Amino acid sequence: MKNTLTFAVGAIALAAHLTAAAQTGPVKVGLMLPATGTFAALGDMIEKGFKLAIDEQGGKLGGREIQYFKVDDESDPSKATDNVNKLIKRDQVDVIIGTVHSGVALGMAKAAKDSNTLLIVPNAGADAVTGPMCAPNIFRSSFSNWQPGYATGGVAAQKGYKKAMPLTWNYAAGAETVKGFKEAFEKGGGKVTKDLNLPFPNVEFQALLTQIAAEKPDVVFAFFAGGGAVKFVKDYDAAGLRKTVPLMGSGFLTDGTLEAQGASAQGLITALHYGDEINTPRNNAFRNKFAVTYKANPDVYALQGYDAAQMLLAGANAVKGDVTGKRDALIAAMRKVQIDSPRGKFTLSPQHNPTQDFYIREVKGNYNVVTGIAVKALADPGRGCKM
Ligand code: PHB
Repeated sequence: MKNTLTFAVGAIALAAHLTAAAQTGPVKVGLMLPATGTFAALGDMIEKGFKLAIDEQGGKLGGREIQYFKVDDESDPSKATDNVNKLIKRDQVDVIIGTVHSGVALGMAKAAKDSNTLLIVPNAGADAVTGPMCAPNIFRSSFSNWQPGYATGGVAAQKGYKKAMPLTWNYAAGAETVKGFKEAFEKGGGKVTKDLNLPFPNVEFQALLTQIAAEKPDVVFAFFAGGGAVKFVKDYDAAGLRKTVPLMGSGFLTDGTLEAQGASAQGLITALHYGDEINTPRNNAFRNKFAVTYKANPDVYALQGYDAAQMLLAGANAVKGDVTGKRDALIAAMRKVQIDSPRGKFTLSPQHNPTQDFYIREVKGNYNVVTGIAVKALADPGRGCKM
């Protein structure tokens, strides 16, 4: 009896010791981002932004060192489950930051929900992530696809356009962005005539541009990003359409792409939750620090990575680094924090998506210059979320 008791007490002490050790070793952060393909540059910017915010806090999360684990998701939804499980099951990370592509993010959200792994989405807008798939452990630092679509649709209607043709990749992000655009554009008196699309990540736009030239809508609304956005804007200009059919888009069309798009992007008007020239001390400090650290200008993706880290820091600092033991308190802190973002302060909706201002931007030189506000404090409706 005595021996059993001694053993039991010893085992409890050992377990307590191991738990304490786990909470003093490094926090394991998994980065699941695209390192190859049309969105590779976006993944790189997210990682840079994330690490900048962490560096500003002495490189620690709630007082603990960080160990990074990285997976290239290739923006391939068919590999999403296997890839995210490398982080969840093999590396046993405490938190995952990812990803860019909506289809991949849907796979990640399911795995995160099933395993109760903390997930912060630093770009992918898949509406379901903060809709039907919402969960206490799933957060987003970026936007829902509906949001920039809706914001841009309102601006297009205000400009007096009546007939719009949307053009995008045929996957969740394209379809949902166009849905948001249509909702606001038609509420404002416009009409979406014909939807044009092509499979992700194809960039053979010629046949679609020929259709636009034939139909002559008042405006084309495009959702493309990364390498695909660069090619689309150049092809649109080369086809002679820029002067005859105005091109608008959610701001991804011209974000992180302007040096490559050059003259073909000048004057394009988009709406997004960020702009290069938001002239506040907070944004100026962010942009200067980013430029000094990485010898490059930040874009919306860098911003979203930066704010993903700010959200995680708010949670981890509230529990002094005990990110697993005090998970509920960490989540409670993340839910209620107001993020002092370079985009402007934002809070999270009850479904954990940023409620934020959307700016009207115009391309001037290599910058998306803010010319006005499209919608203030736009909240995703969070349709279908039960939490
Ligand atoms: C997405 O797939 O959700 C996505 C990708 C790139 C963007 C925006 C959204 O720039």
